[in-house]
Amino acid sequence: MIVSSMADLVVDLAALRHNYRQLRGLCAPGVKFMAVVKADAYGHGLLPAAKALVSEGADYLGVGSLEEGLALRQAGLELPVLLLLGILPEEAAPAVAAGLEAALFRLDVAQALAAAAASQGKTAGVHLKVDTGMGRLGLVPEEVLPFLEGLRSYPQLKVLGLTSHLAVADQEDKSYTLRQLEQFEGLLRAARDRGWELPLSHIANSAALWELKEAHFDLVRPGIMLYGSPASPERRPPVDLKPVMSFTTRVLQVKRLPPGSSISYGCTYTTADWCRLAVLPVGYANGYNRLLSGRGEVLIHSLRAPIRGRVCMNLTMVEVSHLPHVKEGDPVVLLGGGDSARLTADELAAWAGTISYEIYLALGNANPRRYVGA
Ligand SMILES: Cc1ncc(COP(=O)(O)O)c(C=O)c1O
Repeated sequence: MIVSSMADLVVDLAALRHNYRQLRGLCAPGVKFMAVVKADAYGHGLLPAAKALVSEGADYLGVGSLEEGLALRQAGLELPVLLLLGILPEEAAPAVAAGLEAALFRLDVAQALAAAAASQGKTAGVHLKVDTGMGRLGLVPEEVLPFLEGLRSYPQLKVLGLTSHLAVADQEDKSYTLRQLEQFEGLLRAARDRGWELPLSHIANSAALWELKEAHFDLVRPGIMLYGSPASPERRPPVDLKPVMSFTTRVLQVKRLPPGSSISYGCTYTTADWCRLAVLPVGYANGYNRLLSGRGEVLIHSLRAPIRGRVCMNLTMVEVSHLPHVKEGDPVVLLGGGDSARLTADELAAWAGTISYEIYLALGNANPRRYVGA
């Protein structure tokens, strides 16, 4: 990747460690903590994030692919790692060789894992994935007990727990989530009655971690709150979360445009008056969402400047008529800031009609990351 030096994406590992400690403090002592670092740690960088979280005491890591799991092992991380999306049959041998655990919901994968474990003289840890209402990955509840029975012929598999995912734990109305929990507990009870120990069962994402202690079970599985955003922008968790990612640039050009001037592609904005415009060397090539066009704001000297016209591939224009002291080379905050003024990923997400997760991923994936607080 040939990168631009005109933008600076910073990941603050001290803030990540701080957030881990805050969330850990919400869990009872016996509850294990799986830090979700899938999707390159939500755009923050898999290995630096994982190492920071493990150094603080994370018990488990949750990843999205075999490649991510193997990268953790190659980096020397030896703690339990769960492949949250499961694996394909052809991935069984390397997964078992690396001691990676997998979410399981397919019999052909169970067979492949058992065969790989047998040939390597190992056991394969699996977490049975159940769909209790997310309508996504996993066995439907009626399939769980028959599936478990089928697994009795594979002594090489160690079924560590049931796992499920919550669809609306971030909403104030918890009735749907409580029904999911009831379903999950019912299945756990039924399986345990049939002799399955399932010592590591889990369902709690960030939202459930702070709002539903009864969802903690044996292990919690938060992602977004580790990276400094509440699970829902409307609901403030009772912990002090620090933003981990920030994104800044510098003013490339300042100019004055007369009334009636159009700004950027499509001429979607026309100046009503004389306008001081700052041109920023950042655009959607940097993961700066084009839907911020005409809606988003940036911070210059801790003051807000609105985006005028469309965000381009490499350039974005903001109005600084109200900030006469702004000059070329001045620092500009697109995400982050300090105590006096701050732009959160939730704010950018609201302008762009998305969620903080996607803001982090887009910026983190499109820019070279600079780490501080190691
Ligand atoms: C299976 C699973 N568990 C846990 C998480 C973490 O969720 P959150 O980032 O909302 O805490 C995710 C995130 O998408 C997930 O897919």
